[in-house]
Amino acid sequence: MTEILILYYSRWGATAEMANLIARGVEEGGAIAKIRRVPEVSPVCEATEDAIPASGPPYATLDDLRNCDGLALGSPTHFGNMAAPLKYFLDNTSALWFSGALSGKPAGVFTSTSSMHGGQEATLITMLLPLLHHGMILVGIPSTETALLETTSGGTPYGPSRHTGKDKTVSDEERQLCRAFGIRLARTAAALKQAGVR
Ligand SMILES: Cc1cc2nc3c(=O)[nH]c(=O)nc-3n(C[C@H](O)[C@H](O)[C@H](O)COP(=O)(O)O)c2cc1C
Repeated sequence: MTEILILYYSRWGATAEMANLIARGVEEGGAIAKIRRVPEVSPVCEATEDAIPASGPPYATLDDLRNCDGLALGSPTHFGNMAAPLKYFLDNTSALWFSGALSGKPAGVFTSTSSMHGGQEATLITMLLPLLHHGMILVGIPSTETALLETTSGGTPYGPSRHTGKDKTVSDEERQLCRAFGIRLARTAAALKQAGVR
């Protein structure tokens, strides 16, 4: 069975909600969705957190990345870029880079912002860069997904996005694009796995 790792950081839950929508698309696309998140980075260097969080999805390990067939990577936009906890996690994946463990696996990215023009696309594009260094095959959203043309909130060709605004719920188009992205990632991962691309 094809397994897609949905790995994210979320401070207030908006990105987490997208992860769940993408997971539904992944399962609709015939794959197993494994949801994992990364812990906070403490500004107090001696502070530690329990290895197993009190609530929510477990924290990701390098083995989660090593064993997946595809990856959806999510972060809120923090000053036009991915949030530090996710970057910190990625900066500890050198062993996977050395061994080429992620090379040939499909991957895509998702984000949320509070402002309509608060840097969604900049965040998504910069999140793709480390995945290219790992040799991953990038998956976005094609314009055949009509919600991409109709959305007045989030949703980009570079990956699903969400504009949270003030108390704003996920729009129909944002929801549809999360789903379509999950399906596409699942099907791409299955096809690459079957073709023995890795
Ligand atoms: C440190 C920090 C920086 C942020 N920078 C941006 C930004 O550049 N553009 C924007 O639109 N929103 C920005 N936000 C707001 C978040 O991107 C937005 O609230 C997001 O939906 C939160 O997602 P989450 O609930 O998954 O944490 C920032 C929030 C924080 C805490």
